[in-house]
Amino acid sequence: MTTVAPHQLATGAPREQRQALLARVEDRLSGFLAAERSAWRTLNPDAVELIDCVAEITGSGGKRLRPAFCLAGYLAAGGDPEAPEVVDMAAALELLHSFALLHDDVMDASELRRGRPTAHEHHALLHRERGWSGDAARYGESVALLAGDLALVYAERLLAGATPAARRVWGELCTELMIGQFLDVRAAARFRPDAKLARWIALFKSGRYTVYRPLSMGAALARNTELLPAYEEYGLALGEAFQLRDDLLDAFGSTQDTGKPARLDFKQHKMTLLMSFALEDEPEVRELVGDDLPGTDPDALHALLTRVGIRGRVEEIIDERVKAAAEAVGVALPAPWAEELRAMAQTAAYRDF
Ligand code: IPE
Ligand code: IPE
Ligand code: MG
Ligand code: MG
Ligand code: MG
Repeated sequence: MTTVAPHQLATGAPREQRQALLARVEDRLSGFLAAERSAWRTLNPDAVELIDCVAEITGSGGKRLRPAFCLAGYLAAGGDPEAPEVVDMAAALELLHSFALLHDDVMDASELRRGRPTAHEHHALLHRERGWSGDAARYGESVALLAGDLALVYAERLLAGATPAARRVWGELCTELMIGQFLDVRAAARFRPDAKLARWIALFKSGRYTVYRPLSMGAALARNTELLPAYEEYGLALGEAFQLRDDLLDAFGSTQDTGKPARLDFKQHKMTLLMSFALEDEPEVRELVGDDLPGTDPDALHALLTRVGIRGRVEEIIDERVKAAAEAVGVALPAPWAEELRAMAQTAAYRDF
């Protein structure tokens, strides 16, 4: 139940309140990782390389969406802006994201993240440069997987002060993310178009951990259950729109804008919603792709997907989901926060990176 009047503790407009807390989250992340680094340097200097791997991805310019939604969920629910626990929780969400990206890039065999070589590529290169023994690629992947594990452990450590209710939401969030990722790689391997499954995967591998669960963790930490139904409706709608945008950016965006390899989902035969639509409903696409999506000329596929209207169909779903998200916060939230969440929805769903 609400124990404090929403938005009365914090001063300033919602955006300023969020940004002030986000600055503290950045300090917490860099301070935590620097402390780990110096503790391990004295124990074993070589260990620092693994911590640096976590620090490098965490500090490489992510949009910080999960901390942003956690802070918004907390502040709109009347959470005390001076409490250190919310800063730790938002930092934990970013470290969890680092974990997810490190592992995801191994699974998707991606070479680029945020415009830099992915961790596994970088460490494979170090292995080669140093003339070390064994398989360089396997070494690189081992380092990335361990750095991902370490990031997840750090996230857990930062959550030590969270309320039991918030920790329960965290447990759900982690489970959904891993099940979602499993179903993503499974659907890619099986490669059968299934629009319903594709939407489910978008939500579980990414939508829920990006928007809905961070908002709910914020509310749980603020000990406010009143806003949970609105957060759920908003979070699920926007979370799906967020991932559908990611899929569109992969297919139609540029490496320069996204900092990720363009059209990697084709190469990795991912069964995204756009690909399910295309293969289920468009004979021309079926004919072009056959059973070899990675071998299909990506430029020809790109042009065809646009011409037959697949891109437009996914854009329409994004529009509908963003509208649903905006409506969900209309009544339940204090007006300035409803407005802020609507603005955040626009930014997350209509981004170009
Ligand atoms: C990328 O997430 C991974 C997905 C869940 C789709 P973001 O688009 O939030 O990536 P960064 O953190 O801003 O780089
Ligand atoms: C990854 O989805 C979701 C997680 C990181 C859990 P994607 O594989 O589509 O993300 P990107 O496109 O590599 O960022
Ligand atoms: Mg990926
Ligand atoms: Mg992936
Ligand atoms: Mg993607």
